[in-house]
Amino acid sequence: MNLYNIRKLCGMLHTTKIAEKVSCSNKQRFSSSLVSCDIRRFIVENTEIVGEDTLTPEIKLRLLTPNCRFWHAKPELWPLPEPYWAIYWPGGQALTRYLLNNPGVAEGKQVLDLGSGCGASAIAASLCGASHVVANDIDNVSAIATIINCELNGIGPVECLTDNMIGSQPKRYDLILLGDMFYDEVLADGLHRWLDSCINTHGTTVLIGDPGRASFEEHGIKRLLRQIAEFELPKLVQRENYGLTCSTVWRYHPRL
Ligand SMILES: C[S@@+](CC[C@H](N)C(=O)[O-])C[C@H]1O[C@@H](n2cnc3c(N)ncnc32)[C@H](O)[C@@H]1O
Repeated sequence: MNLYNIRKLCGMLHTTKIAEKVSCSNKQRFSSSLVSCDIRRFIVENTEIVGEDTLTPEIKLRLLTPNCRFWHAKPELWPLPEPYWAIYWPGGQALTRYLLNNPGVAEGKQVLDLGSGCGASAIAASLCGASHVVANDIDNVSAIATIINCELNGIGPVECLTDNMIGSQPKRYDLILLGDMFYDEVLADGLHRWLDSCINTHGTTVLIGDPGRASFEEHGIKRLLRQIAEFELPKLVQRENYGLTCSTVWRYHPRL
């Protein structure tokens, strides 16, 4: 497994072959059958604590780095579903930086970080004094990584949910955070419809972080966004992300 494979998979999810999908769902079953203390140990033994080289050095995260043994191993040796949670994606980095720079955005709010991955944006919301934080990711390994990362940052665990909320009856959240969630057309379409129903029902504020991926730039939601911040990515993040230089935070302003 190396970063190239993870990123390539993320950018090309919609073209994934059936065989790859089958092996991935087998791994999903494998991770479901592992008890959380096994996964916890696996994460601690196979990741490194990172912070300095990201947009949010004040937040420490356990991530997959070149110092980890699986970084250099063959991808098929990785025993879990694709480790999106082990990467701090540029969209999430910008969104998290924006929250930390503007603590009033999350303070006192009910916050949902959807597609939370490593949990960085949820952790930032908690550090800013959100009244309740939910980290939602369909990968149950992400939930365990998020709890570990909460501990690393000296906060109590945020609530971690692993059901697919997209398309469900919207619950009351004041703020929904989406870091790098527009990498797949089908996912983005479903998300767009569901965000409209969240805003319609509860007047939820929606913030999106994205480094300008083609799938995001070309999506219909793009013309309904207002830019609220832009950050130059640290050099290491730029190198790891094949030339992406900036990451932007947008507020979704639909005409409903
Ligand atoms: C590119 S990663 C972004 C992670 C994090 N937001 C960040 O910026 O570092 C996308 C994440 O979305 C999760 N995901 C994909 N589909 C989802 C869904 N329907 N509901 C919740 N999470 C989902 C994946 O498991 C993955 O962790």
